Amino acid sequence: MKIKIMGTIVQNNFLDKFFPNGKTSVYGIIGNPISHSVSPYMQTQAFLKLKINAIYVPFEVQRGDISQVINSLKTLNIKGINVTVPYKEVILPYLDEIDQDALNIGSVNTIKIENKIARGFNTDAPGFILALKEENISVKNKNVIILGAGGTAKALAYILLKEKAKSIFLVNRTLEKAKKLEDSLKKYGNIKSYPLKNEILKDLIKQSDILINTTSIGLKKDDPPLFNYNFLKENKNLVVVDVIYFLTPLLKKAQEFSLKTIDG
Ligand SMILES: NC(=O)c1ccc[n+]([C@@H]2O[C@H](COP(=O)([O-])OP(=O)(O)OC[C@H]3O[C@@H](n4cnc5c(N)ncnc54)[C@H](OP(=O)(O)O)[C@@H]3O)[C@@H](O)[C@H]2O)c1
Repeated sequence: MKIKIMGTIVQNNFLDKFFPNGKTSVYGIIGNPISHSVSPYMQTQAFLKLKINAIYVPFEVQRGDISQVINSLKTLNIKGINVTVPYKEVILPYLDEIDQDALNIGSVNTIKIENKIARGFNTDAPGFILALKEENISVKNKNVIILGAGGTAKALAYILLKEKAKSIFLVNRTLEKAKKLEDSLKKYGNIKSYPLKNEILKDLIKQSDILINTTSIGLKKDDPPLFNYNFLKENKNLVVVDVIYFLTPLLKKAQEFSLKTIDG
C-alpha cells in the first residue's frame, strides 16, 4: 500500500497503519531558537524516502538546561541529534567521547548515542570540503578569505588548513575575536586576521581564490551588505561561497559578475 506523508508518497512496508508508530526511532536537533529550522522537515522526508522508520524533531533547549540534555537523550533512547546555535561549543563537556577533528575545532554539531555512550562529531567541516569537491574545487595551495570568526568560521578554517590551503584571511567585525581564532589555529598553517573594512576586502579579493561568508548576514532580507559587493568584480576567478542555504545578496552579486558560486 502507498500512503502520502508530508507530501511524500511512501511505500507503506514498515508503517502498517500509522506513522510514527511504536517502532519509530527518534532523532532531532537542539538549539535556541529552533522554530525557524527546516531540518525536521528535510530529515524526516529523507527517512521516508529511504524507507527508514524514523522521525526527526526540534528541541528548543534553555541555556540553563544544557547539562541535562545528554542524560535525557539516553533516558528517552533518542538515537542521535544535531546541535545548532548557541550550543555547539558548550555541549562538549557533557559528551562521553569526542571525535579528534571536533575536539580540535572545539565544536560539535552531531551527537550519536549508542549503548548509552554519547559521541560528538563535527560534520560541518568535512561536509564543506565534500561540497567543494563536488564542484571540482580543490583548496590545496589556495588563498581563502573567511568572513566571520564564529563557530562555522573555526570549523572551516581548521579543515581548510588541514587540506593544505596556502593562506586563510580571517575577516571579522570584531577583530579581537578573529585574533583569538587565529591564535588557536595558527599551529595548523598560515592564518591572519583583519578587520571588516571595505579597503581591506578590496585588496584581499585581488589576492584570493575563494571567499566564504560564514556570518549570518544575508539570512534576513533587510541585512546590510558586509562590504561593497562591487569589489567582487576585481577578481574574475574568485569562487564565492555562502554557508547560508539560498541565493544571498552576496551570491547574487557574484553571479552578476559571472563568478562561480556555491550556497550552504
Ligand atoms: N549551511 C550549513 O550547513 C551551516 C552550518 C553551520 C552554520 N551555518 C550558518 O552560518 C551562520 C553563522 O553561524 P555560526 O554558528 O558561525 O555563528 P556565530 O558563532 O554566532 O558567529 C557569527 C559571526 O557572524 C558575525 N556577524 C553577526 N552579525 C554581524 C553583522 N551585523 N555584521 C558583521 N558580522 C556579523 C559575527 O561577528 P562578531 O564576531 O563581530 O560578532 C560572527 O563572526 C549562521 O547563519 C548559520 O545558520 C550554516
